Amino acid sequence: MMMARIAAEFSRHHHSYEGAALAQARIAVGLAEGIFSHISTARRVLELGHGTGLLTRQLARLNSGDIWLNDLVAPLPQLAWPGQGRVYPLPGDAAACDFPRDLDLLASASMLQWIADPRGLLAKAVRALRPTGLLALSGFGPDNFPEFSGWGLPRGAPSYLNAAGICDALPAGMEGLVLRDETITLQFESAEDLFAHLRASGVNGFAAGRLSPGRLRGLMREINAAGPPTLTYRPSYCIARRS
Ligand SMILES: C[S@@+](CC[C@H](N)C(=O)[O-])C[C@H]1O[C@@H](n2cnc3c(N)ncnc32)[C@H](O)[C@@H]1O
Repeated sequence: MMMARIAAEFSRHHHSYEGAALAQARIAVGLAEGIFSHISTARRVLELGHGTGLLTRQLARLNSGDIWLNDLVAPLPQLAWPGQGRVYPLPGDAAACDFPRDLDLLASASMLQWIADPRGLLAKAVRALRPTGLLALSGFGPDNFPEFSGWGLPRGAPSYLNAAGICDALPAGMEGLVLRDETITLQFESAEDLFAHLRASGVNGFAAGRLSPGRLRGLMREINAAGPPTLTYRPSYCIARRS
């Protein structure tokens, strides 16, 4: 049920995602910089939850071989993949599909929070790495969108993990290279703008989407009465090497 809702929300808002995903664009760049500080080439790469390709376009800067691109619903992003490498689609639920083996890099940005069993997915990810292969992930911490609780809204996604939480969920035999939590605060002119942002980035259905139109209008009046609202993202980054 949850999976069906996640698929429906991201599919419905795929076209508006990049216009709204200011935080996720910064996160993709931050994760890529962490990756590039440890490797400059990769023969075999898998990306989970590619979405519109914010991280994929960063990964194309690797002097790369082949890449497998996974997403639950998003069509393959348009991109020029460098060199002789090929792009292989791997559509479907990352928890259910077979990963290619012997990977130099498995990367995923802003997707882990949607996974019901992150520990299971991470164990599967690590098995797909070759020895010394890199796992590079970003998610969001448990204090993501702290504004929601003040507005009486549910948390948004099922699996919020900070950097230490991602690290704890990794199987034994991984050497942590980057563990970092960050805060990105977006400022909006009004509650209407903020909810439009949530809708465009595919998160609204998990927050305000359950409110009746009347209750939502009341909530927006309350929020606006307190002044221009903010939305605080708490991205978490974990890059680790398989020993
Ligand atoms: C917030 S978007 C992030 C997209 C992209 N990585 C970025 O940084 O902008 C989350 C993406 O994860 C995908 N997703 C969610 N659950 C998934 C699952 N179980 N398996 C594969 N992809 C999933 C969604 O379809 C969506 O495209």
